[in-house]
Amino acid sequence: MTTDDTARRGTEGAGEPEPAPDGLRRRALDALTAARTRTALLTDTVDDGELTAQHSPLMSPLVWDLAHIGNQEEQWLLRTVGRRAALRPEIDSVYDAFEHPRASRPALPLLPPPEARRYAAEVRARVVDVLGTVPLEGGGPLTDASFAFGMIAQHEQQHDETMLITHQLRSGPVALTAPEPPRPALAPGPFGPFEVLVPGGPFTMGTSTEPWALDNERPAHRRDVPAFFLDTAPVTCGAYRAFIDDGGYRDPRWWAADGYGQIRRHDIGAPLFWRRDGGQWLRRRFGVVETVPDDEPVLHVSWYEADAYARWAGRRLPTEAEWEKAARHDPATGRSRRFPWGDTDPTPERANLGQRHLRPAPAGSYPDGASPLGVRQLIGDVWEWTASDFLPYPGFAAFPYREYSEVFFGPAHKVLRGGAFGVDPVACRGTFRNWDLPVRRQIFAGFRTARDV
Ligand code: AVJ
Ligand code: FE
Repeated sequence: MTTDDTARRGTEGAGEPEPAPDGLRRRALDALTAARTRTALLTDTVDDGELTAQHSPLMSPLVWDLAHIGNQEEQWLLRTVGRRAALRPEIDSVYDAFEHPRASRPALPLLPPPEARRYAAEVRARVVDVLGTVPLEGGGPLTDASFAFGMIAQHEQQHDETMLITHQLRSGPVALTAPEPPRPALAPGPFGPFEVLVPGGPFTMGTSTEPWALDNERPAHRRDVPAFFLDTAPVTCGAYRAFIDDGGYRDPRWWAADGYGQIRRHDIGAPLFWRRDGGQWLRRRFGVVETVPDDEPVLHVSWYEADAYARWAGRRLPTEAEWEKAARHDPATGRSRRFPWGDTDPTPERANLGQRHLRPAPAGSYPDGASPLGVRQLIGDVWEWTASDFLPYPGFAAFPYREYSEVFFGPAHKVLRGGAFGVDPVACRGTFRNWDLPVRRQIFAGFRTARDV
């Protein structure tokens, strides 16, 4: 259990059986097709004026995301993997996220909506051709196991989540609707112990075997995590309201100094999209105003707000390693699973993912998705802020480009884990790492708390 090699082969979940090349092609095509169906849903439900408008300076116009999706696919799958001639090299710079910050993107010479749609479709048609001919074994790390196709499907799904955030920020007529998530089988209220003890000891963090894992999830390595207590469900709106009602936003004792500065400067006193109305709290959710539901995981809080709530509650945020150990470590076998429930892919019974619903399910839902220790909703519902900075694992190697992960490593970004209702399963697993600035509130982020033993 001491060498990297043993750690890799001996303690990481076996995963799904390796599909044959035809299975790989099918899986890659399905993932790309599912992403495009969702992109269409997010961009066909508003008119061209709304597609080119900027709904918030924090976000791109939707039509930028649409053509950026096509442009990334052209660069990686058509030009690099397929070695085909460039389709529209002259637009690369317009859709380079590093050249143009989001606030400046409306002023760029963007493809108008019909052209952006046509461009993405033309790229896709050629990419399907590439997928049919390129070898998916023995051709190198970009094409083996159809990695680049999986990477681009995840990229599109990540921008679909970004576009879902833009939908949440926009005002105007309701564009998106979806059925309500299932209520928990049990009556509302506590479903069991509110925290569990995660025993101390080493576990395998990260992965070297998950075929579509991105560079920052690699490699698998051993991490010693002392025993700690972890909430069995995310913190609810009702619990968070007790913090508000107790004057939590006015008491600097609970806050990191920068966070207290931010809430004072911007006069923040509740999660984003909340509004007090007489004696009750209302919130706007995808264009609909509703009473804040007490039993739902809280959403749209910054890392600073999550950190302050935890301190007020006499607790703390879990570290990233604690979160992953709770989500993956199987105490019976000592191995790390792909998901809390085992190695099989997510299903609608196990996790609220894939934008099937437009909100998290009540805290305590998804008993079938629980970890061996009984921790629920680690996957899906709300992204969970962790205490940790976004840092490379020992042995990290940027692949295939530094700008995906490496340039974001450091103390400026905090790690989020587990995915939310608007995250597709292709971009969600026990090892998946998301990151953002600690001031960010528009993302679909909540949290759960931990404490030392
Ligand atoms: C991993 C969600 C932080 O949206 O900035 C999209 C994903 N990278 N295009 C982001 C990403 C390049 C990234 N996050
Ligand atoms: Fe991107």
